[in-house]
Amino acid sequence: MKIAVLKETRYAENRVALTPQVAQQLIKVGHTIQIEEGAGYASNFSNDAYEKVGCEIADKTAILARAEVLLKVNAPDPSEIELMKEGTVLISYLYATFNTDLVQQLNAKKISAFAMDAIPRISRAQNMDALSSQANLAGYKAVILGAAQMGKIFPLLMTAAGTLTPARVLIYGAGVAGLQAVATAKRLGAVVEVSDVRPETKEQVESLGGKFIEVKSDETAKVEGGYAKEVSADYLAKQKEAVNKSLFQADLVITTALVMGKKAPILITEDQVKQMKLGAVIVDMAVEQGGNCELSEYDKTIVKHGVQVIGPANLPATLPQNASELYAKNIQNLLNLLATKEAFKWELEEDITKGTLICHAGKLMK
Ligand code: NAI
Repeated sequence: MKIAVLKETRYAENRVALTPQVAQQLIKVGHTIQIEEGAGYASNFSNDAYEKVGCEIADKTAILARAEVLLKVNAPDPSEIELMKEGTVLISYLYATFNTDLVQQLNAKKISAFAMDAIPRISRAQNMDALSSQANLAGYKAVILGAAQMGKIFPLLMTAAGTLTPARVLIYGAGVAGLQAVATAKRLGAVVEVSDVRPETKEQVESLGGKFIEVKSDETAKVEGGYAKEVSADYLAKQKEAVNKSLFQADLVITTALVMGKKAPILITEDQVKQMKLGAVIVDMAVEQGGNCELSEYDKTIVKHGVQVIGPANLPATLPQNASELYAKNIQNLLNLLATKEAFKWELEEDITKGTLICHAGKLMK
């Protein structure tokens, strides 16, 4: 198949959908690949590196006029869709429920669009799951970002001049990002505590050396398709009570709590921030879904009541080399499932196809 990769146009997006290594493997099975000039540059992959493995470097218009399959990280913008051929297969993030105009435009051009953000959470699909691969890196980076802003180090340090106590890190949400944050903060020597509404995370947290904060309640979060559902206001109040002591002692707080299809729950109010230690840092990873801290602002760092609140946008794009490596692998695994080396199979009843195919042959599939 004729596969194409464009340079990302979203602000501060440094990732690329295909790395030279994965491109080489796709070429080996018989595909041809065109890459837009400079597409990999911000991820540390030069035009040369792609050419060496057999890709052709070209400009956007030429690429889109020829492509049968377009691979991207973010959805193409309207001007790019204009240039695409009818019937092209697109694989990228789409967030179709929010980007309805874009989906309409894709559908009007009879583009078949697979959404990388809609991979079902089943074990068979784990190696295609871009949300997980990227969240993993984001969890690591959140700790590093926080560490860089703190006025103290993570580990216990005994020196001739005295002993420094280890930093205390509190993490809300022990999903993929949260667990990686636990592992990273532990490796750096911090004391780590964690709160999650899914009781099964207790064991996972403890296996990484973190302490799980128990909430005294009979209620537990229901899980649907791997996603936590909303818990009651009563539970959230009890959670607050259980976590507050740790929050007020924390040097770094990382929040990753998300609820399927909803705005992220507010877990730290301004009133709680007021009671935190002077110089504490909050990294709110849920900021793209509204934030877990009442004070967080998207893509900004604010200082209030002596606490820094960081609301980082698109953390995976700040580790573009690794993020692209994992994303490209996710795409390769999805392609292996969806297509032979000649063409797509269009097994419309197969679970992963069903979950990810947003529009096909002029029809909206959702
Ligand atoms: P997520 O990004 O949807 O949510 C993050 C975490 O926030 C979850 O652990 C959730 O329980 C927690 N949370 C929600 N409300 C909270 C509150 N009020 N306080 C504290 N925490 C709260 O989760 P993520 O990282 O995507 O993964 C969730 C689970 O799904 C994991 O166990 C993961 O292994 C599984 N999963 C399985 C996949 C597969 O089998 N293919 C793919 C992706 C995830």
